[in-house]
Amino acid sequence: MSSAIACRGVWKVFGAGPSSVTALQAVTLDVTDGEFVTLVGASGCGKSTLLRTVAGLEAHSAGEIATGGVPVVGPGADRAMVFQNYSLYPWLTVQGNIKFTRQLSAHTRDRTSADVESAAGRADALLQVMGLEGVAQAYPHQLSGGMQQRVAIARALMSRPRILLMDEPFGALDAQTREVMHDCILHVSELERCTVLFVTHDVEEAIYLGQRVVLMAARPGRIDSLYEVPLPPHRTQDMKHSADFLRLRVQILERIRATSGLKTDRDLLRKLAPRAGGLKT
Ligand SMILES: Nc1ncnc2c1ncn2[C@@H]1O[C@H](COP(=O)(O)OP(=O)(O)O)[C@@H](O)[C@H]1O
Ligand SMILES: [Mg+2]
Repeated sequence: MSSAIACRGVWKVFGAGPSSVTALQAVTLDVTDGEFVTLVGASGCGKSTLLRTVAGLEAHSAGEIATGGVPVVGPGADRAMVFQNYSLYPWLTVQGNIKFTRQLSAHTRDRTSADVESAAGRADALLQVMGLEGVAQAYPHQLSGGMQQRVAIARALMSRPRILLMDEPFGALDAQTREVMHDCILHVSELERCTVLFVTHDVEEAIYLGQRVVLMAARPGRIDSLYEVPLPPHRTQDMKHSADFLRLRVQILERIRATSGLKTDRDLLRKLAPRAGGLKT
């Protein structure tokens, strides 16, 4: 199988001198075509940096990154990114948001009416697949967080990227909505046959979605270990209670604890979800 994403000895150092931060140290990772890989690890271990360098939004300091065999030198149409904050255009409807990128590219490329027609068809298909038909003419502020994130995913998929890069996309959603979104993204990535690199700080989410889980550790940011997820390709919520699932969850949590030098579960929780705050000792 060909490698959709190939990282070879990738380093990313922010700043210089004694205050420099090594966000990525010699990261080597291969993601095969169509694979769903999740990245998990304590806050500050370089998950977002790795995603951003693969996206070409951040230049790496050393090493090589290629997508589909082509070296990454900047953002490209083969990759699309989805962030935690939905970053939708508030003045555009749901349909307008989904079509926006295509409309932008219309100014830079020669297009025929057939292209326009196929883009319209694509937008309609994505509205349907993402369950957004009923809100096509609504504005982002009229939608729940889950619905807004569906729009952001549909917009990312509009230009048929081969690779979807997702940085804690469901981090702001409540638990029930997150479960629905998990099944939604699994279904869509299968339909679109795209490769997904998905960052989360939630170990359960990482196992449920991933065919492989990559565990990163901090100071310096690096890949610590990789785990094959021993679940059938078609995931169902009840698998979260299976012995294999629970065993892997414990194994990964223990490894995060060991690599982060934390002593208690409370320390771990605080580190995994710094924004949750409010944990009193
Ligand atoms: N633009 C930046 N300038 C300086 N340091 C940065 C920058 N972005 C990230 N870092 C640092 O790099 C490390 C990894 O950050 P990040 O990739 O955001 O981690 P994560 O997403 O796992 O929480 C952290 O120590 C962070 O402070
Ligand atoms: Mg991050």
